Amino acid sequence: MQNKLFEIKDLYKKFDDGTVALNNISLDIYEGITVIIGPSGSGKSTLLRTLNLMEQPTTGEIIYNNKNINSKEININHHRKDVGMVFQSFNLFPHLSVLENLNLAQIKVLHLDKLTATNRSLFYLEKVGLLDKKDQFPNKLSGGQKQRIAIARALCMEPKVILFDEPTSALDPEMIGEVLSVMKELVGLGMHMVVVTHEMDFAKNFGNRIVFMDKGEVVEIGTPQVIFENPTKKRTSDFLESIEHKLS
Ligand SMILES: Nc1ncnc2c1ncn2[C@@H]1O[C@H](COP(=O)(O)OP(=O)(O)OP(=O)(O)O)[C@@H](O)[C@H]1O
Ligand SMILES: [Mg+2]
Repeated sequence: MQNKLFEIKDLYKKFDDGTVALNNISLDIYEGITVIIGPSGSGKSTLLRTLNLMEQPTTGEIIYNNKNINSKEININHHRKDVGMVFQSFNLFPHLSVLENLNLAQIKVLHLDKLTATNRSLFYLEKVGLLDKKDQFPNKLSGGQKQRIAIARALCMEPKVILFDEPTSALDPEMIGEVLSVMKELVGLGMHMVVVTHEMDFAKNFGNRIVFMDKGEVVEIGTPQVIFENPTKKRTSDFLESIEHKLS
């Protein structure tokens, strides 16, 4: 049995405009690769964002490392050292070089000195195959390269788990493969990941558990085999059919 990373209890999120994004979600997230799938607006990003405290639930709680991360005593920066995030839109600072983008949080948050940070940055840049871009500015990079830089930036913090929110969906088709191959390498290195994605091949081949969400609820959780070949809920099979039709 794998260790539990997050224990999510009765998570409910209502935004100020009345939208209920999460409707009493209870879910355990284990080490390894968890893939979250579901239609647009089902609450996938909101759930992911609550895991690294970019969003606070209205009610309910998330236990990480035996602590309720929604309590006032939790230090957000401290939590984010453990739980990194990679966004759909990269979020690199345009006025900073690649190396400066990678060094920034290591110096500001981890309080590493510049030399140590730079060495780490170069190490992870090499891992994503972009060492030669270290002095480049983000606007000179392709979308796929920007996303690989964003992944390297998350790796520089040496987190325990990385959350990915549709890391390939803003990319041109020919760039998707290079980002997925970096992610596959991370799987091979034993990195724990929670991934929201529409890349069903990635989910099938690398997910340990698939979580299907719809309308702010977790409808079904299972191995890729169960979810993709033998789902128990009609909402799951309807969704999978709808995306198959979109793809074909
Ligand atoms: N800041 C916000 N204020 C109000 N409503 C929001 C906010 N963020 C998200 N929502 C709403 O909450 C619901 C869930 O949104 P969320 O972004 O989590 O969905 P999603 O599953 O990630 O969708 P997508 O696949 O399109 O990214 C949606 O109805 C959305 O419009
Ligand atoms: Mg989303």
